[in-house]
Amino acid sequence: MEIVGKLLLTSDSIYSRVMELAERISSDYQGKEILAIAVLKGAFMFYADLIRALKVPVTVDFIIASSYHGTISSGDVRVRYESLEDISGKDVLLIDDIIDTGISLKYLRELLLNKRPASLKICVLLDKKERRIANVPIDYLGFEIQNEFVVGYGLDWDGKYRNLPYIAVLKDI
Ligand code: IMP
Ligand code: MG
Repeated sequence: MEIVGKLLLTSDSIYSRVMELAERISSDYQGKEILAIAVLKGAFMFYADLIRALKVPVTVDFIIASSYHGTISSGDVRVRYESLEDISGKDVLLIDDIIDTGISLKYLRELLLNKRPASLKICVLLDKKERRIANVPIDYLGFEIQNEFVVGYGLDWDGKYRNLPYIAVLKDI
């Protein structure tokens, strides 16, 4: 398969890191049940790999949110789907693909905290720390990356490249 842009993380390196995260999460939540909420669309691949490797009981749920237009973060978060399921008293793990400015996750965190879960932790695969505007606690992180626009493994540019099994830096955009 032709690599789109510069290869940043191979499918093997992503997989090993996801398994490490799953180990840590499983041990931290021993004796509990996790309500794993994916932030769609970007988190779908990471989420599916991660929750398959968890060794504690898991229930699944989804939020569809968007804040991005092309490669510029708009800072305007839209929740297009939110489940009607009650999360109060549950141990919620919010799973996203990438934290950039932090605006989206800060917004979603507050939205969920208002529903009084027993606990709320956040797990993200990638962190572009340099770009942070909003402060959000990240409990589980896959990789810290440079301030470059990346695609693959769920992440898109204009709706494309989400299906790539690796993560690449998109060039010439
Ligand atoms: P934030 O609100 O600025 O933290 O942006 C969060 C969302 O922007 C992420 O969940 C992604 O959907 C998207 N995003 C941020 N950086 C990238 C990137 O490099 N590639 C693809 N999507 C990105
Ligand atoms: Mg996202």
